[in-house]
Amino acid sequence: MYVKKVRLTNFRNYKWTELELFPGVNLLHGPNGQGKTNLVEAINFFGSLSSHRVAGLTPLIKQGEETAIISLELAHDERELLLEFELNSDSTNRARLNKSPVAKTKDILGYLNSVIFAPEDLDIVKRDPTNRRAFIDQLIVQFTPRMLGVYSDFDRVLKQRNTLLKSARATGTKGNALSTLSAWDESLISLGSEIIAARVNIAQKLEPGLIANYKAIAKSNNEPKMFIRSSINGASVNEGEEPEGKGYLETTDREQIARLFRETLERTRPKELERGITLVGPHRDDLVLILGSLPAKGYASHGESWSYALALRLASLEILKAESRLGDPILILDDVFAELDSDRRAKLAELVLGNEQVIITAAVIEDVPEALSAKRFSVVAGEITNG
Ligand SMILES: Nc1ncnc2c1ncn2[C@@H]1O[C@H](COP(=O)(O)OP(=O)(O)O)[C@@H](O)[C@H]1O
Ligand SMILES: [Mg+2]
Repeated sequence: MYVKKVRLTNFRNYKWTELELFPGVNLLHGPNGQGKTNLVEAINFFGSLSSHRVAGLTPLIKQGEETAIISLELAHDERELLLEFELNSDSTNRARLNKSPVAKTKDILGYLNSVIFAPEDLDIVKRDPTNRRAFIDQLIVQFTPRMLGVYSDFDRVLKQRNTLLKSARATGTKGNALSTLSAWDESLISLGSEIIAARVNIAQKLEPGLIANYKAIAKSNNEPKMFIRSSINGASVNEGEEPEGKGYLETTDREQIARLFRETLERTRPKELERGITLVGPHRDDLVLILGSLPAKGYASHGESWSYALALRLASLEILKAESRLGDPILILDDVFAELDSDRRAKLAELVLGNEQVIITAAVIEDVPEALSAKRFSVVAGEITNG
């Protein structure tokens, strides 16, 4: 699959732009702050209906405007598809497939797969669980678009349950609140178990590719490993330093996960009522990344963290490729060559050359290896020109 055309209206710093892209390597270059990342963000948006940079969607709408429209023409084998998404500042978003409105915006998922590697990916390795959950959840949604609904249902249930816990704490009238609470427990457990099972499943699928790609990039004997550490399995709700293995979950069996979830939730109830928040569930879990015998977070060097993040993305590309009926995912390398030494640049070039479409952004053209000779575009102040 490849993107033939991108059209943006009031998206980020673009007033209006239309860009024709090609199979193979496309290189967007230009000084910082001109709109290179904004453009690839728009393409990547259709993979999971989320931004790889921000949690909400408001920042995607051009400042001072009400409505942004992203439209992509895709080519896959003989087929062509037109995907359109309209973002409104009042959150009434709309999507169209081949000009026909779809019933729900999430129905536009499943037509584009993409993998983006960007400097922000260091956060996956180095920072909070939120970053790692976002990484794995966006990948899950690409694999199984239906999961987007499960995530939003879970968020809604979590919010309601937290409100109830808070008011139970405030009023102290536990009797009535408690029976309502158990109704919410059932939804929390059923939706949460689905999310947890999907995460364990994807982590297990990613691991072999993570190991192979890390080895290829870092040329080191330190082997990476990954685990889901779950609050339903006794991981501390205060997520601090924990002994290795604590809370790791290895099963993808939904019933077993739900049973564990229920037991832990019941045990944690007094604490939840005391604190007024939900302490057990996928929103408290982490994707633990190990390098050698130590966690990557807090221990891996800057270079190792880079290699780790890159290996995670390349592993994502491989599993999407292996299972997708859409052909190769679109691979986006956003501003990454400047950060790599010449060895790693060459290695990365070698690893990505065969992909059907690659979109690269760089401030300095010379940072991009010549092996990736590309169709070039210059981006200046939200205007794109050939060359
Ligand atoms: N919602 C928005 N409205 C207007 N301008 C925006 C919006 N979001 C980002 N920008 C502008 O876009 C620019 C950054 O573009 P970006 O694509 O990240 O740059 P780069 O070319 O370095 O990748 C900044 O100048 C920022 O102010
Ligand atoms: Mg950028």
